[in-house]
Amino acid sequence: MFKNKLVFAGFASVSLALGACGAEEAAEVEEADAGAGEVTEEMEVLEVATSADFPPFESRNTEGDFVGFDIDLANYIADELGYDLEITDMKFDGLIGALQSERVDMVISGMSATDERKENVDFSTAYHHSGEMFLTQAGSDIDTLEDLEGTVVGVQLGTIQEDGAQKLLEEEDLNFELKALDNAGLLIQELMSGRIDVVYMDESVATGYIEEQGLEGFADPTTSSPGMAVAFPKGSELVDEVNAVLAEAEESGYLAELEEKWLSEEE
Ligand code: ARG
Repeated sequence: MFKNKLVFAGFASVSLALGACGAEEAAEVEEADAGAGEVTEEMEVLEVATSADFPPFESRNTEGDFVGFDIDLANYIADELGYDLEITDMKFDGLIGALQSERVDMVISGMSATDERKENVDFSTAYHHSGEMFLTQAGSDIDTLEDLEGTVVGVQLGTIQEDGAQKLLEEEDLNFELKALDNAGLLIQELMSGRIDVVYMDESVATGYIEEQGLEGFADPTTSSPGMAVAFPKGSELVDEVNAVLAEAEESGYLAELEEKWLSEEE
């Protein structure tokens, strides 16, 4: 955890210095330390959690390394702020809890900055905007919201799509079986093997599956989801720092580069 360790290091250098010389010099030593960025390696780790089941934002390659838009962005943020990056893979529905209990410093996981989540965590400015899509097997005759009647619809647990599907059940005059799984990759497998008929998911991610797995889909006409943003424990001082990095990344064209690298086939 970046914060606690820094505070601890501050105390350590003061007491060390106090032992060796007077209080005035001690203050100087501490300042010099901070200025020179002389912190131990341990202190520089930025602990980030993600749910690596969401290509092209986050997944694992065949070597088991984390790859994707969010992973590049996490590396960029850590670099800019001078931290080493440590990524932990978690289930999506556990990410908010990990922030609330301050087990990690940040979450980058294609997470939409909803008002509901803002009650429990802080968000950066948005770095990507997407919509929602209903993904089906090729040749499926499910092409509209009405066609969802009587089908099995899969969503990932804890996502805005789970909430959205719930709302469709309650507010639209529609009846379908809702299956919430804790892994987005598993949803695709279930769709391909026919155990579920439709996957309701993020449009940028669904588009990738349509292109790569020959699936089909139709955009959800009803939603307007908030953009994806980096999430933090409430009150984290990293929010402003990350916002500054994101503004710079927008300005310099780095965000556009990431869109091009990971999402360009979609346009
Ligand atoms: N954007 C959606 C949400 O915030 C889905 C994100 C899912 N991310 C993931 N890494 N599986 O709820």
